[in-house]
Amino acid sequence: MRPPLAALALALAWIPTTLAQWIQYPPEGTATLTHYTLPEDYIAACGCTAKSTHYPTAAMSQAAYGSSTAYGPGCGQCFKVTLLNTFLSDPPFFPDVTKSLVIKVTDLCPDSGGGWCSASPGHPNQAGAYINFDLAWPSSAIPDDFFPSNVTLYGYTDFSVWNVSYESVSCVDSWAGGQDAAALGSINQTYGVCCPANPNSTDLCPSYSEDTGAQPPDTISNAAFRHLPSILYTTTAFSLIICVFVLL
Ligand SMILES: *[C@@H]1O[C@H](CO)[C@@H](O)[C@H](O)[C@H]1NC(C)=O
Ligand SMILES: *[C@@H]1O[C@H](CO)[C@@H](O)[C@H](O)[C@H]1NC(C)=O
Ligand SMILES: *[C@@H]1O[C@H](CO)[C@@H](O)[C@H](O)[C@H]1NC(C)=O
Ligand SMILES: *[C@@H]1O[C@H](CO)[C@@H](O)[C@H](O)[C@H]1NC(C)=O
Repeated sequence: MRPPLAALALALAWIPTTLAQWIQYPPEGTATLTHYTLPEDYIAACGCTAKSTHYPTAAMSQAAYGSSTAYGPGCGQCFKVTLLNTFLSDPPFFPDVTKSLVIKVTDLCPDSGGGWCSASPGHPNQAGAYINFDLAWPSSAIPDDFFPSNVTLYGYTDFSVWNVSYESVSCVDSWAGGQDAAALGSINQTYGVCCPANPNSTDLCPSYSEDTGAQPPDTISNAAFRHLPSILYTTTAFSLIICVFVLL
């Protein structure tokens, strides 16, 4: 009787972990924010275009991102992030200015087994947060003095981790690159890339690590282009009007 029971116990232990490894997060809440170095034009985990790095982007913590490799449902999502306070510093720092940023998720922040990106369902990170956004900063898209500080009081300017509030927003309406077709969509590669221009319930990347055979939506950059015809036509029409005006 023992071997079959052991096998059953193993199977039962395995099922909940595969079903419950991803975090279902609300459209708004609090999170932590760190920063990392992402070279300009670098193609990160989702396979979003190089031009996406010319606008504010971030990596999302693994369990919220929804995959341990390549793309996941987090890819392409846009969030408005607002700095609240620091908490590793002594004392905590509450800036007297409100700083917000809209980021697009283009990268995976791996679960390192204890870092800021290691939250799992029921187990938040050290700050009690279920999401960590790892902001690509420094970046040509974000001022070097974006993060408030008080060097007189603390003796340094980089707090490295912030408590933030986040809100899920439309990329097309709110992200700085939301109208730049070259910054939207993914590179043209036949596998392992998925970066919706403006993700929604149907235009969403599956989890690559959960099902490597799943067919992601076609997000290669020209497809993103097709989603924005009215803007392009408007621009073309506007240029034509200018040309005609100049000729007259
Ligand atoms: C983050 O901010 C929220 C909302 O003000 C607060 O409830 C929470 O305690 C803060 N967390 C940290 C780690 O400072
Ligand atoms: C820095 O902190 C000190 C002590 O709290 C305060 O007096 C000063 O006004 C702060 N400076 C800035 C620029 O916030
Ligand atoms: C989701 O996005 C796709 C691509 O932009 C669009 O065609 C579709 O109508 C959207 N669906 C919903 C439910 O908004
Ligand atoms: C992607 O690349 C393939 C092979 O080079 C090409 O046939 C296809 O037209 C390209 N698709 C887009 C949208 O650029």
